[in-house]
Amino acid sequence: MSHRRASATPLFTPHNIDRAQRRTLRKQTAQAEARARTAAGADAEQQPTEAAYPDAVYPLAGRPGPASARGSRLKLPAHRMTTAVASAAYPFLAEGGLGADGIYIGRDLHAEGSFTFDPFSLYGKVEGFTNPNLLLAGVIGQGKSALAKSLALRSVAFGYRVYVPCDPKGEWSAVAAALGGTSIALGPGLPGRLNPLDAAPRPASVPQAEWEGEVRKRRLLLLGSLARTVLGRDLLPMEHTVLDVALDAASARAAASGRPPLLGDIAHALADGPGLDLAGGLLAGRLGEAARDLAHAMRRLVFGDLAGMFDAPSTSAFNPYSPMLSIDLSRLGGSDDTALVLAMTCASAWMEAALTDPYGGRRWVIYDEAWRLMRHPALLMRMQAQWKLSRGLGIANAMVIHRLSDLLTAGDAGSQSRALAEGLLADCSTRVIYRQETDQLHAAAGLLGLTSVETAALSHLSRGRGLWKVAGRSFVVQHQLHPAELQLFDTDARMH
Ligand SMILES: Nc1ncnc2c1ncn2[C@@H]1O[C@H](COP(=O)(O)OP(=O)(O)O)[C@@H](O)[C@H]1O
Ligand SMILES: [Mg+2]
Repeated sequence: MSHRRASATPLFTPHNIDRAQRRTLRKQTAQAEARARTAAGADAEQQPTEAAYPDAVYPLAGRPGPASARGSRLKLPAHRMTTAVASAAYPFLAEGGLGADGIYIGRDLHAEGSFTFDPFSLYGKVEGFTNPNLLLAGVIGQGKSALAKSLALRSVAFGYRVYVPCDPKGEWSAVAAALGGTSIALGPGLPGRLNPLDAAPRPASVPQAEWEGEVRKRRLLLLGSLARTVLGRDLLPMEHTVLDVALDAASARAAASGRPPLLGDIAHALADGPGLDLAGGLLAGRLGEAARDLAHAMRRLVFGDLAGMFDAPSTSAFNPYSPMLSIDLSRLGGSDDTALVLAMTCASAWMEAALTDPYGGRRWVIYDEAWRLMRHPALLMRMQAQWKLSRGLGIANAMVIHRLSDLLTAGDAGSQSRALAEGLLADCSTRVIYRQETDQLHAAAGLLGLTSVETAALSHLSRGRGLWKVAGRSFVVQHQLHPAELQLFDTDARMH
């Protein structure tokens, strides 16, 4: 090959020569170029032609059109500056990205590259990435649900299973159906029943006694949160004892007839003052009284507007092999907000109990419209406890809310709600912030520790565009929807 290489010497023009010399050199350059061209041409004729490569389907820049997601070319007017200025104004700084693992989300608007995400492959890769959970916040209609649905739909191809424990708008059923999964619809007149006190099958690795303690703990957690939500206050120490005793009484009664306890059994035990006193032993004579408020709170679930839905043996068995399962609560009807929130909690508890298999593989549990639960500190705390339990089970939780101040639960003492909010944020290494109302920017910036540039960006985000904070690193990402997804996820169409 070396005989084909043209010497570079004639191409070099020394700095301090006169015009005549420069002309001679230019001539030599032209001659050298001509020689190199003829040599190359002659060679090409002599050499056997190689098998032609097939024509590329796409140019280097990828498939034409926005579907390539490669961004548009950067076009800027030419500009000259000294190196002293250029070193300060160097514009080509972009995030290195999170790597190419996981599902494609869309376009990283600053780096002009593809943005992909997999919560489990970021461990050890990104500093401070301690959990796979995701928080998604933004005003209505910005495409939060669409993003959550894309996460679900696209993750299935990577072996994830998807669980949507409460779907108050019924918008996930179509997604579940499209993925070959199932959805359970609950509502007055519908046949579906879920018993939130169902015990999950014991994982083989957990000893029997330990598992029974675990199941009991979960049931107590649920009962306590339901009672606190209906009563709108914290439980008294005595009331905790009452719930304890009532749960044991109800469990014993149910076990005698070989079935799991029902909320009706709990209500029954709570209403039975003398029975509680007897079971309470040492504290006899006082439990019955303390149970009064609790008995009324449980009544709401058993005889109130939710009657029949959560106080009967479950009609659906949990199928761990289904790619997706959602619980549709859109047909609860004209119930008030508390009823919907209680239903969301019962449905979540039922599904979460079923997800205890440590070998169940990678799973997404998606709480869409979770802002409804946020207003009740008891439910927020229950959810946090559940997230702690899901650690180590290969479960990534995603929570969708409107604004970050939703986390600073209303009516609660300032410092406690702040601690709750910060705890929940700490439990979400990934925070995706879609557009926020102007009056929310301050709270968002404070809670997330945003820079002024990030804060300003939040109020200008358009649909499908969000600020992704992944353990301290920031990206502005445009979520790219496939036309088939757009059709499947469309919530606008149903609203009109
Ligand atoms: N990335 C996107 N690109 C284009 N359209 C989108 C995108 N995300 C959402 N949309 C449209 O916006 C509508 C509302 O989105 P949705 O996810 O229901 O909003 P939210 O859950 O934030 O209220 C969807 O029906 C869809 O048509
Ligand atoms: Mg939504």
